[in-house]
Amino acid sequence: MNRNKSILTAFGIFLICGTVWGQHQSTIIPGKSWKDEDGSLLQAHGGGVIKHGDTWYFYGENKRYGYFPSPGVSCYSSRDLINWKHEGVVCPNWIQDGKSIVPNTPEKFQSETKRPVIERPKVIYNEQTGKFVMWMHLEGRVDESRPFYQVSMAGIAVSDSPTGPFEYVNSLRPIPGALHQQFSDDEALQQFNLGSTFRDMNLFKDEDGKAYVIYAAEQNYTMHIVALTDDYCSVQNPVMGKTWNRILVEEHREAPALFKYSGIYYLLSSPCKGWSPGKAELHSSEHILGPYRSRGNPLHGKDSHITFGAQSTFVLPIDQEKGHFMFMADKWERNNIAESGYVWLPFEVKENVAPSIHWIDEWDLSWFDR
Ligand code: GAL
Repeated sequence: MNRNKSILTAFGIFLICGTVWGQHQSTIIPGKSWKDEDGSLLQAHGGGVIKHGDTWYFYGENKRYGYFPSPGVSCYSSRDLINWKHEGVVCPNWIQDGKSIVPNTPEKFQSETKRPVIERPKVIYNEQTGKFVMWMHLEGRVDESRPFYQVSMAGIAVSDSPTGPFEYVNSLRPIPGALHQQFSDDEALQQFNLGSTFRDMNLFKDEDGKAYVIYAAEQNYTMHIVALTDDYCSVQNPVMGKTWNRILVEEHREAPALFKYSGIYYLLSSPCKGWSPGKAELHSSEHILGPYRSRGNPLHGKDSHITFGAQSTFVLPIDQEKGHFMFMADKWERNNIAESGYVWLPFEVKENVAPSIHWIDEWDLSWFDR
């Protein structure tokens, strides 16, 4: 009896330890589904990472229920970029009980938007205000007879802590006008008055503390890059060439990820193909507002023509001075969005060498010391 009991106890301890140890990872395995410290799938799609103190914070779309309903933005924390603790949904979805909780959303969207979602949230820290500022793409279906992506606005939320709660402070479409208008009726006029569409986006904070939002505008035909106000909660008065610019004009690209090395600005992006992967392209410029020129596809090897089956979302500086970055992309599972994986790869940029990203089955940060 006693013997059976101790066998059972030993088996129980083995199971518990197995589960806990099983979740402790020591390497990054690109493309595989990834679990947090509680054993749940990481839900930070279309996301980005910032480092604050000695901790990395990973923010992204929580798609645990699939595309709908969308709980909002999740945050995870980690000391090694490998083992992640879920800090919770730190910014709620933008429509609550049928009403927008975001200041300045047009009445039309407040009353009509069904199935709201948040896409591609990113966070930067403002040294002057001491606030963490989140920008995101607010979306939803406005009218069942029209295509899904009609809200196409930026949402802005702030928090005193990297782990939230983030509170909405603003929403906007940064640049007036509406090239590539899809409609010829009243909707067209309303959309024009709102400004150019704001979809796949990213933030970039330069060494001088100035920050920029970059996004697929003009119905995804052209990207806009726009300087933010000092508090990062809005955009500067638009003066083309001074506070904003049109870049990758009519190239129909999205999923922008901007980074800087040795005074040069690099922009990674994907073609507009929904959940399907396409060929990545790198552009570079000596000036943040462009013009950007193509440097081709920086990915090499099997499936490099389809971004290793994924779509760019962020380029994380690990040690910017040394040119050490991490390329981050989403491996969308269109039939099971919740299980979409993450393709994270080391990315070393050197002077006078074409930047290149290669597939690695498994790695950790010691890769950079090789
Ligand atoms: C992609 C976009 C994703 C998501 C998806 C929906 O083009 O990059 O963020 O919006 O379309 O189809």
